[in-house]
Amino acid sequence: MAPEAVDARGGFIVWIEGLPGSGKTTMAQSVSARLHAAGRKVQVLDGDEVRRMFSPELGYSRRDREVHARRVSYVASMLASHGVAVLVALITPYETSRQAAKAQAEGKFVEVWLRCPVNVCRQRDQKGLYDRAAQGSLAHLTGVDDPFEEPLNPDLTVDTDRNSVSEATDRILRFLEEQRLVGPTLPA
Ligand SMILES: Nc1ncnc2c1ncn2[C@@H]1O[C@H](COP(=O)(O)OP(=O)(O)OP(=O)(O)O)[C@@H](O)[C@H]1O
Ligand SMILES: [Mg+2]
Repeated sequence: MAPEAVDARGGFIVWIEGLPGSGKTTMAQSVSARLHAAGRKVQVLDGDEVRRMFSPELGYSRRDREVHARRVSYVASMLASHGVAVLVALITPYETSRQAAKAQAEGKFVEVWLRCPVNVCRQRDQKGLYDRAAQGSLAHLTGVDDPFEEPLNPDLTVDTDRNSVSEATDRILRFLEEQRLVGPTLPA
């Protein structure tokens, strides 16, 4: 039997979730650069940026976070349906949002959980969010005083406190190859 063909031009979504500081932006950029180098059309939808554009009126309640995730998921699915490899970097604290995004994508969806202990995220504190939360000037920070539901069924779990960025990038790309979402010719 002939091996199943790789639909190397078909779109898909890599949905990257995890606590603030777990590495979502870093990983989305890194995977995106590799896919771009392999000739793919790529779009990163990063939580920070898209929130300003899609959802400036929304806050950080459960409902608002779910509405925002639905908007991102809708746009991601449209892009994927036109052959784009879409990297979503969004905290996505609720399982309902993850499952809704997966259902919307109709199959070509890879859920990646960047699992990283909150104390490591706090030490990184790229944006000073954990500091502001500790000082009482920022409320509803996920992992501090807002929930992050443990993902029930991620396709990949990456421990970003133990893997380097390049190891984690290779793992995600290898998984995409195994799923036949990308061809095997990615440059190292
Ligand atoms: N394996 C890894 N993968 C990704 N990032 C890592 C890894 N190891 C260490 N880091 C570092 O962790 C930090 C993560 O910051 P980044 O801004 O990517 O997180 P984030 O999840 O996008 O946070 P936020 O939700 O606040 O936007 C960076 O300094 C990055 O270099
Ligand atoms: Mg980020």
